[in-house]
Amino acid sequence: ENAFLTVECAIVDQKSTYQSLLTAAGALLHVYISPNFTIILHYRIRSSSLSQPKFLLLILEKMWIFSWKGPTGFSASSTAEEVTRGIEAYGLTAIITGPTSGIGLETARILVLRGVHVVMAVRNTTAGQKVKQELINEIPKAKIDVMELDVASLKSVNKFVAAYKSTGFPINILIANAGVMAPPFTLTEDNIELQFATNHIGHFHLTNGLLDIMKNTAEKSGIEGRIVILSYTPLLAYGQSKLANALHAKELARRLKEEGANITVNSLHPGVIATNLARHTAWMRLIFGYIVRLMLKNVEQGASTTCYLALNPGAKGISGEYWADNNISSPSGFVNDPEFVKKFWDFSVDLIERTLTSSSL
Ligand SMILES: NC(=O)c1ccc[n+]([C@@H]2O[C@H](COP(=O)([O-])OP(=O)(O)OC[C@H]3O[C@@H](n4cnc5c(N)ncnc54)[C@H](OP(=O)(O)O)[C@@H]3O)[C@@H](O)[C@H]2O)c1
Repeated sequence: ENAFLTVECAIVDQKSTYQSLLTAAGALLHVYISPNFTIILHYRIRSSSLSQPKFLLLILEKMWIFSWKGPTGFSASSTAEEVTRGIEAYGLTAIITGPTSGIGLETARILVLRGVHVVMAVRNTTAGQKVKQELINEIPKAKIDVMELDVASLKSVNKFVAAYKSTGFPINILIANAGVMAPPFTLTEDNIELQFATNHIGHFHLTNGLLDIMKNTAEKSGIEGRIVILSYTPLLAYGQSKLANALHAKELARRLKEEGANITVNSLHPGVIATNLARHTAWMRLIFGYIVRLMLKNVEQGASTTCYLALNPGAKGISGEYWADNNISSPSGFVNDPEFVKKFWDFSVDLIERTLTSSSL
């Protein structure tokens, strides 16, 4: 349990360092890219007590093909279709952010397939309309609306919330899925780093803006509302913005429980999936696209934990947890520190208030 797994990728000059690197790091995968250069993917474990067999077990566990079923009866290899099989969700309304590609798109497809009215919150409405049409072609009964939302802009979030309120639609499920990873350093119009703005602050503000509608919907319908937040932890600034998602879910769940609201909130790590997420980084595209295929899930598997949390009765009443591979998992230590979680909530509220005040949005 004390092990930290680090995946590192190095391009090394074969003649000089290759052998010594192999011995020192215990390289598991190496891919030749030219006669002189090799990409080595090695796993480093920060733990003095970890023995070699345990280490191998840890690696195998990360590969979905070797995954086993958890208490929910599902595993890393389960698909979104499998975890929602037999569920009829007509009459429910879900908002999904970032449903134009990857996990969000598959989540939208599965929810629509199960009868959910899906509101696609997209920054590019032309792309959104195209996806809507494709889904309708595949699932003619699909009930879909497309609404504009740039989650990296507080102004756009405010506009979306106001527009949503004017539709009179209820909200049973909110899926905070949109995300960016490792773009070039950029400040948004609100002067917030792009990943933090997109992955956390925008969704934090959006959730707070929509909570009243969710509470009303849950109260009137007697059906539990569900908030599902896509998270993840390693990788510098991206990792911090995604850790923020788990902190957000934890504190929001605590607050809603305290209020007695019939709404659950959970965060999840979808696994490693080859999607457009790696678009900003060449080495990531390489890793996502070609090297660790066995460890990567496909999007049908990648969207499964989101869909399980959105629809499966097995998640009923469970709130404030961090999930992976369709089962409850252990988040970073920070998420279990209530003091830190609360401080981070206050920081987010303060940052949004100061930004909105200074730009009088
Ligand atoms: N793939 C993985 O291995 C992995 C691992 C851990 C966590 N996740 C998380 O899973 C979620 C989905 O990622 P994915 O892999 O499916 O990536 P993806 O294929 O790149 O999809 C990201 C979606 O987010 C949208 N988006 C980005 N910035 C936005 C903004 N400012 N406003 C509105 N929408 C925005 C994108 O819209 P456009 O089409 O307009 O760009 C796209 O629809 C993310 O939160 C990601 O951090 C993914």
